[in-house]
Amino acid sequence: MTCAQSGMETILTLAPVVPVVVIDTLDDAVPLARALVQGGLPAIEITLRTPVAMDAVRAIVAEVAGAQVGVGTVLEPLQLQEAKRAGARFAVSPGHTTRLLDAAAAVDLPFLPGIATASEAITLIECGYRFAKFFPAEPAGGAAYLSALASPLPQLRFCPTGGITLDNASRYLALPNVVCVGGSWMLPRDRIRAKDWPAVVAASQAAAALADRG
Ligand code: 3PG
Repeated sequence: MTCAQSGMETILTLAPVVPVVVIDTLDDAVPLARALVQGGLPAIEITLRTPVAMDAVRAIVAEVAGAQVGVGTVLEPLQLQEAKRAGARFAVSPGHTTRLLDAAAAVDLPFLPGIATASEAITLIECGYRFAKFFPAEPAGGAAYLSALASPLPQLRFCPTGGITLDNASRYLALPNVVCVGGSWMLPRDRIRAKDWPAVVAASQAAAALADRG
């Protein structure tokens, strides 16, 4: 297995937060992404959890200047190929398998695989990975758990995701092994349904202003 992470650090250091986006309505994709970029969050993860997700990636790539679009919730190798063809710049998975790691290397798409244990982290280190998603961050042990991995596993830096909010994000961002955090808190479903893009801009600005990474 080889590692597919060339260019990942550049994406993960664009802002302290990678928004995790679920697109239910294709027409929302472009204005929503514009609001995130305007608010200072250019690296955007579009989760492959809805039928319109890949079309949303294509639309944002084509129409939103400054957006660095990635796909999330990647579970299948074919999704990596499709994401690359759609113009995605990176891909994220809640976990990883040998098939996915091999596919990411073959497709040559920067890949952020997920871990929740030291053993899973060591598998990624063996493959040469330097960045991983820590998922689901809060239920799996939160910032205290991730902090405890820093000393024995200094090779890996994490994007913790899952249960992170404006209030607890700083606890993660202060850790030496955290490069950024992921989360959906700046995209409340009711604001999206109302197409309240100024609210998304404001929440993104607050996220982008979070303290610098440790
Ligand atoms: C997810 O996969 O949905 C992400 O981990 C986002 O989690 P959040 O909605 O708790 O921020």
